[in-house]
Amino acid sequence: MIIAIDGPAASGKSTTAKLVAKKLKVTYLDTGAMYRAVTLQLLRSKIDFVDIDKVSAILDDLIIDMFDHKGVNIVKINNEDVTGEIRSSNVTKYVSEVSALLSVRESMVVMQREIGHKTDCVIEGRDIGTIVFPNADYKFFMVADIKMRAKRRLKEMKQFGIVKSVKEVISELESRDQKDSSRDNSPLRKAKDAIEIDTSNLSIDEQVDKIIDHIKIK
Ligand code: CDP
Repeated sequence: MIIAIDGPAASGKSTTAKLVAKKLKVTYLDTGAMYRAVTLQLLRSKIDFVDIDKVSAILDDLIIDMFDHKGVNIVKINNEDVTGEIRSSNVTKYVSEVSALLSVRESMVVMQREIGHKTDCVIEGRDIGTIVFPNADYKFFMVADIKMRAKRRLKEMKQFGIVKSVKEVISELESRDQKDSSRDNSPLRKAKDAIEIDTSNLSIDEQVDKIIDHIKIK
């Protein structure tokens, strides 16, 4: 069983997807974390992102591990824990550029499909219901008011010691959404058969219940 949850940045996907997976006792896969991990590795290597051969060589040597440890989704690249570092401002700044690269997408999608074919899971991202698993059993598309999204993101950033203004965060979210929606390869898009959930005025429990209710009814 595949439950696809897509939507723009900070729309509530991660928190919801994690809890839905926990309730249903299935695997949770954060594909955004995978693109963030690749971005971190490419930034560290200091190569030019348009150098296809160098990007491919880095992808060939990159091992991404993701697993739950006491409720925290741990991300490792080549055995190094980068859970915090992939959320840094610098990675966030470049992740849309990196995830627009065809070679990056192809390699991540292979990994995502392998995981999805092996086990039941809740997979969150931008293109899960449209490209990665177009035949997913359930598809949801989460949206929320930009101010609300910025407030949520600010709260998360605080936990990582990042301090920014609401205005700054709004502009970052809008810029990333714009890049993610307008790219040629697998743009952020609601699948025709996805159920849209506006989380602007919903609590986390309400968001989770909405999804669980849909799954129960179908
Ligand atoms: O958590 P947040 O909403 O900030 O974003 P994320 O899910 O961590 O995703 C980070 C970035 O990865 C997005 O802005 C997209 O550029 C890219 N991404 C993607 O292209 N395709 C996916 N399936 C998931 C993420």
